Amino acid sequence: MSAEMDRIGLWSEVKLDIISQYLPVYSKLVSGRNLYHLYIDGFAGYGLHESRTSGEIIAGSPLIALTTVPAFREYHFIDLKHDRVEQLRTYAPGRSDVHVHEGDCNEVLLNLLPKASYEGYRRAICLLDPYGIDIAWDVIATIGRMRSVEIFLNFMVMDMNMNVLLHHPENALPSQIERMNRFWGDESWRQITYARQGPFLVGTIR
Ligand SMILES: C[S@@+](CC[C@H](N)C(=O)[O-])C[C@H]1O[C@@H](n2cnc3c(N)ncnc32)[C@H](O)[C@@H]1O
Repeated sequence: MSAEMDRIGLWSEVKLDIISQYLPVYSKLVSGRNLYHLYIDGFAGYGLHESRTSGEIIAGSPLIALTTVPAFREYHFIDLKHDRVEQLRTYAPGRSDVHVHEGDCNEVLLNLLPKASYEGYRRAICLLDPYGIDIAWDVIATIGRMRSVEIFLNFMVMDMNMNVLLHHPENALPSQIERMNRFWGDESWRQITYARQGPFLVGTIR
């Protein structure tokens, strides 16, 4: 196993399975309407993973996208880490439809998204699969306004629960609160996430 490859749990394998079932359907539907469609992977990763359960090497989202039939018209893979970007470049060398971008996806996406303009009869599916809550609300809001980009967001509840939504929220570090505000867009999560709700199907929270 390369030092760069992640070892992934069953939940990540399920995610990859959903992606591999969804992309061909999306691609067929959109290309069938004569729309120019792009695949954008905001947190592309290494491209391969080692399964914790079976030990097998399995395709990550970039390779799933590259083998999707019918093919997308353009592929954009973004990652922050230089060695991952180098690895991503090895999968489709010389192909003018495949672009690998090194940098923070929050910045790269804002430059890239105009390529998927509704007015230009373009559409895109954008996979946002961070380790944590490292996507800025501005990016999601921009995508929402475009009407041409569908997102697949891996909503990292574990990061929120471990770092921000603590039993005693006053214990959260200011830097973590800042991350949460950037992800959520404002501070309204404070009211929403700590609100008591009911009735519940099974018992009540006290
Ligand atoms: C969960 S992995 C992606 C897995 C991949 N989507 C898959 O299913 O095969 C997250 C990746 O995001 C990259 N990353 C972390 N922060 C980033 C950022 N701000 N912009 C772009 N990439 C980032 C990490 O280097 C890592 O490779």
